[in-house]
Amino acid sequence: MSLLRLGAGSALPAWIEALERRVFGDAWGPLDSDEVLWALPETAYARWRQSPVVGEGELLRIAVAPEARGQGQARRLLQEGHERLGAEGLDTLFLEVRVSNESARSLYASEGWREIGLRRSYYRDGEDAVLYRRELP
Ligand SMILES: CC(C)(COP(=O)(O)OP(=O)(O)OC[C@H]1O[C@@H](n2cnc3c(N)ncnc32)[C@H](O)[C@@H]1OP(=O)(O)O)[C@@H](O)C(=O)NCCC(=O)NCCS
Repeated sequence: MSLLRLGAGSALPAWIEALERRVFGDAWGPLDSDEVLWALPETAYARWRQSPVVGEGELLRIAVAPEARGQGQARRLLQEGHERLGAEGLDTLFLEVRVSNESARSLYASEGWREIGLRRSYYRDGEDAVLYRRELP
């Protein structure tokens, strides 16, 4: 299945907003001018922020519908994101994730992301975030 790409100003398809609400309990709405999103329609998406001037990007959110998990969709989105953001000139990516999110942390570690720090009480409920970094070739 080919990836759908959405750039700044694109309206988000209803299925993405529905998936966000289901997985995270809220929906962030349209992409900001520095954001890009790649999706596997109906089941998964990854939303990134790009800062081309400094060569950096940030993974803002990645989600797969519960019934489609364990099939490699998140891995594919990450790998495609690395490749496409690298092709656009970025050289370093960052992300934050809840310390308790073992499935996501396992995914990131297996895709070349390295833990570089901890943000204490980063989330509203007081949970800490682990900060990850990945270099792009
Ligand atoms: C984390 C998430 C994106 C993984 O999606 P997925 O499509 O099921 O992941 P994949 O099938 O591509 O799996 C890739 C790797 O992720 C890790 N992983 C995925 N599910 C896992 C689980 N339940 N337990 C442990 N590791 C898991 C494994 O390392 C796996 O590799 P393996 O299959 O070789 O063991 C998905 O569980 C999700 O949407 N979670 C809720 C949203 C979220 O927490 N997003 C991250 C923070 S924004």
